[in-house]
Amino acid sequence: MAEVVLNQVVKTYGNVYAVNHVSLTVADGEFVALVGPSGCGKTTTLNLIAGLIEMSGGDIHIGDRLVNDLDPKDRDIAMVFQNYALYPNKTVFKNLAFPLQMRKLSKSDIEAKVLSAAKVLDITHLLERKPRELSGGQQQRVALGRALVRDPRVFLMDEPLSNLDAKLRVQMRTELKRFHQDLQATVVYVTHDQLEAVTMADKMAVMNGGFLQQYDSPKNVFDNPVNMFVASFVGSPAMSLVPLEVVTHGTDVALRSPEGWQLPLSAANARKALTSTTAKVVLGARHSTVKLHTTQTPGTVPGVIYTVEPTGDITFVQVFLGASVVIVSLDPSVIVEPDQKVWIEFDQDKIHLFDGATEMALAAA
Ligand SMILES: Nc1ncnc2c1ncn2[C@@H]1O[C@H](COP(=O)(O)OP(=O)(O)O)[C@@H](O)[C@H]1O
Ligand SMILES: [Mg+2]
Repeated sequence: MAEVVLNQVVKTYGNVYAVNHVSLTVADGEFVALVGPSGCGKTTTLNLIAGLIEMSGGDIHIGDRLVNDLDPKDRDIAMVFQNYALYPNKTVFKNLAFPLQMRKLSKSDIEAKVLSAAKVLDITHLLERKPRELSGGQQQRVALGRALVRDPRVFLMDEPLSNLDAKLRVQMRTELKRFHQDLQATVVYVTHDQLEAVTMADKMAVMNGGFLQQYDSPKNVFDNPVNMFVASFVGSPAMSLVPLEVVTHGTDVALRSPEGWQLPLSAANARKALTSTTAKVVLGARHSTVKLHTTQTPGTVPGVIYTVEPTGDITFVQVFLGASVVIVSLDPSVIVEPDQKVWIEFDQDKIHLFDGATEMALAAA
């Protein structure tokens, strides 16, 4: 296996930057998810690593080789796509063997590699079947097997689970994670599904509009999103974002809503808020860190319940604070109703503050 290094990689189509000066290092054996909304440049980035499209600028290294000018077949990579495109008239064994026959391996080598890949993916009992005799999940495993037999330096996967139904997707997620753990393979995995990225990847590269927004472990991205885009993209339900204004009273600092309520800030949050480029800041809070009170309590701010969404284990409640919606999670035993007046308590140690103008996370000066 090998590391993959992108240095200031650019891909333009006309005057559109599909990929805009992206730099990142995927360490040897690491599982990295490229994640972001549709059109943000994930597939283009993956195809640049694969060599399927030509770069407009920058460098890509795989292992110690600069691959900018190498054909895909010389890059020692294997791709797995959303459409697994198995050969319908070949058995699973022959589907797996085919890429090796193309490389003119001996019959016994081919058989050994196919059997070993089949064992890893638990498809040995399917080797004599045709693709149409397999379930979606089994077909996806065969597609993975076809990549695996090639013994590549890097696996590149583009939304490989998107065609599967929800339950199978969750199951394959577990299997892919196990596949990575067992093989210690270098994997670059594209998905628009932040949950897939968070659950499987060692690191996630969050992209938006061709730019790399943040590249870190899922935990660090979740705990310390660098900007409002990342904050609202990662985590479900999304982080609530409430635009407010910084006001000072002597040495005390508070956030004031358009409705007129004020939230006094802790010393640490006050220092952050004062670094804002303008008086506008956005308070961010994840549902699990917000408390809901049904009576007025010191340190809370007033709101009105919009919807109550039971999910079984947790009930999500959407509360309007003026024009902003804050999502709170409750134990299902707590009974609240739409249009009920409530009070929201933010945990000062858990809130995020963003610059209202630049949308970047504010750090204490
Ligand atoms: N062959 C192409 N010609 C023109 N524009 C393209 C082409 N391929 C991708 N793009 C544009 O580049 C951007 C990124 O696309 P893509 O990498 O496919 O996004 P993602 O995989 O994140 O959904 C989009 O704006 C898309 O329209
Ligand atoms: Mg794509």
